[in-house]
Amino acid sequence: MGYALKETTYSYRAWTKNGVWTTGDLTTDKTITIHEGSNVFHYGQALFEGLKAYKQKDGKVVLFRPEMNYERLQSGLQRIVGPTMPRELFFEAIEQIVKSNVDDIPEYGTQQSLYIRPFVIGHGMNLGVKPSDEYLFSVFCAPVGTYFKGGLEALEFVTTQYDRAATNGMGQVKFAGNYGSSLYPRQLAKDAGYAGVIYLDPATHTKIDEVGAANFFGVTHDNVLVTPKSSSILPSITRKSILYLAEHVLGMKVEERECFIDNIQEFKEAGACGTAAIITPIKAITHKDKRHQFGDGKVGPTIKKLYDLLLGIYYGDIEAPEGWIYEVQL
Ligand code: PLP
Ligand code: COI
Repeated sequence: MGYALKETTYSYRAWTKNGVWTTGDLTTDKTITIHEGSNVFHYGQALFEGLKAYKQKDGKVVLFRPEMNYERLQSGLQRIVGPTMPRELFFEAIEQIVKSNVDDIPEYGTQQSLYIRPFVIGHGMNLGVKPSDEYLFSVFCAPVGTYFKGGLEALEFVTTQYDRAATNGMGQVKFAGNYGSSLYPRQLAKDAGYAGVIYLDPATHTKIDEVGAANFFGVTHDNVLVTPKSSSILPSITRKSILYLAEHVLGMKVEERECFIDNIQEFKEAGACGTAAIITPIKAITHKDKRHQFGDGKVGPTIKKLYDLLLGIYYGDIEAPEGWIYEVQL
């Protein structure tokens, strides 16, 4: 099972009234009817989030650090000039989605999960470029497997001359337009036989920014876990968690700093991390027709350890650091 959309029964919708959020409801309707002048169609006023529900061995259903998805959505709402969302509304929606679609949560042991996709769009009759008066908050979900083909198989990536987000643009929020601008470079990479794209910093194109839909990290020859510091990448919840695990469980030194593409040989292992990507080992990066392979091209020992730790925490086989696991009361 990959990332194809397998529909589940219930979705959730909450609408603003006079710009203020109202409580939402579950629906089985998979379509949304909004005005043709809606901002989302013309000016791209849209954000989304992504989190997963995991079924653990004892039947518990849990979410991984959902508070951080809520916080990231809030910062995105501020950036698209949308209305602040009450925390209770976000959690009410996620809980209802998980509970009502509980039969679609993949079983423990399958390494699958229920991917939950909350999103917010600006809608309503409008023509001029200005924020919408009204908004929809909607959530749907789907059972998923791995995002990149291969699970822990190391994959080939390629840098691109295109940017997904500007230096002081929208890269730090999960703005739909960032993904729209990634489609063409992704297609070029796919057509050339690569699993995905490595974006460079938009200002100088000398430093690694992130992977198409995941953050980048590398392990240096002296065992430091490094991840790029940049104003144009999404602050990944998985990356933050990996940094913590590397430092506090594996006892590694960790650094958030610039990763120059011309110094890529400083890494003996590299990976892409994210809710969908989990941890995907990077076999090689091709930049300007030069291919750099990490180690022997197979998953390295640090990435394997981090992967096992993270999955162990998701599925309840390893005790999670305080506050990382949110149990949904079924
Ligand atoms: N970077 C981009 C562009 C993403 O779309 C995602 C996915 O959400 C990530 C990084 C990883 O973030 P997270 O670990 O919070 O899922
Ligand atoms: C996620 O990891 O949640 C993502 O947003 C990736 C996605 C675009 C499928």
